[in-house]
Amino acid sequence: MSDDLKGLRRELLAGVSAASDLAGLEQVRVDVLGRKGRITDLMKGLGALAPEARREQGQALNRLKDEVAGAIEGRKAELGRAELDRRLASERIDVTLPVRPETEGRIHPVSQTIDELVAIFGAMGFSVAEGPDIEDDWYNFGALNIPPEHPARQEMDTFYLDTEVDGRRPVLRTHTSPVQIRTMQNVKPPIRIIAPGRTYRSDSDATHSPMFHQVEGLAIGEKIHMGHLKGCLIEFCRAFFDVADLPVRFRASYFPFVEPGAEVDIGCSRAGGELKIGAGGDWLEILGCGMVHPKVLANCGIDPERWQGFAFGMGIERIAMLKYGIPDLRTFYESDMRWLRHYGFAPLDVPSLTGGLAR
Ligand code: PHE
Repeated sequence: MSDDLKGLRRELLAGVSAASDLAGLEQVRVDVLGRKGRITDLMKGLGALAPEARREQGQALNRLKDEVAGAIEGRKAELGRAELDRRLASERIDVTLPVRPETEGRIHPVSQTIDELVAIFGAMGFSVAEGPDIEDDWYNFGALNIPPEHPARQEMDTFYLDTEVDGRRPVLRTHTSPVQIRTMQNVKPPIRIIAPGRTYRSDSDATHSPMFHQVEGLAIGEKIHMGHLKGCLIEFCRAFFDVADLPVRFRASYFPFVEPGAEVDIGCSRAGGELKIGAGGDWLEILGCGMVHPKVLANCGIDPERWQGFAFGMGIERIAMLKYGIPDLRTFYESDMRWLRHYGFAPLDVPSLTGGLAR
């Protein structure tokens, strides 16, 4: 190698090691090996040399080119590693730091209770169905075997809308039972659904609100009988209130859309003026249920000779008040932040059978 080339080699390699970042290194590469780079220029001059000298100089230039290219690659890897180290150092996370303070928002007890219902009945194979809040008279009453003269239809209980649709005034549904009808019309049995949602009745005091929530349940099959109804609801009550031996009582009752019909009471004690769920000699009514009336099945085009099933309905605020000791129904709708902070649930407190349904 000529002294000229030796000098050039030293200069170029020094330039490579001096590059302090990837952009600078790229500039060095362009200056040396690019189309107008130093080595490229020298290569272009080879043609003017005599054949012997051209071969020698050509080989020397090629070696120099390879060496510089290799040095650039090496430097590139080095700079890449340094860049990574720098990022690792600057983006370091101390996983031992305390967690951020809890978020402000709370889950409303009605939402939490619906999630609990879904977890319990979901594990029993029920899926969630929905229906409209504004209902046709037939879905809310007629199809459910509630005759026109039934007191529930009277203006004092039912909110009727001020317009007419097909000659009838729509109603705000007074219970979630119309979802039974809509489901049976649209789904081929067997059926297993629950339907949580808003319901409306013209009534307002410490235990009644013009808008409240219910959950409906419906199971239709070829061999479903009262034993299934009882087993399902006893299991539900014990899981929901988290009392393994909770007394549950079925008391004969009347609803036009079931036969036989029953109301379900759970055991409680009122000793010392304090209500406690569990054994104690007293009873609390929590829901209505029964075997779906054959007329209701027929109204939905389901053959009552072949299919039967059970249905139930309960007030969501009511069971939430009992479980969480909330004394006044009206407070549910006041959007009082202090109330929500007290009775609400942490957003990550998602109820599940395995993780726990109570707080
Ligand atoms: N719909 C009834 C109510 O609102 C409850 C119920 C549902 C009763 C299903 C029996 C069967 O009171």
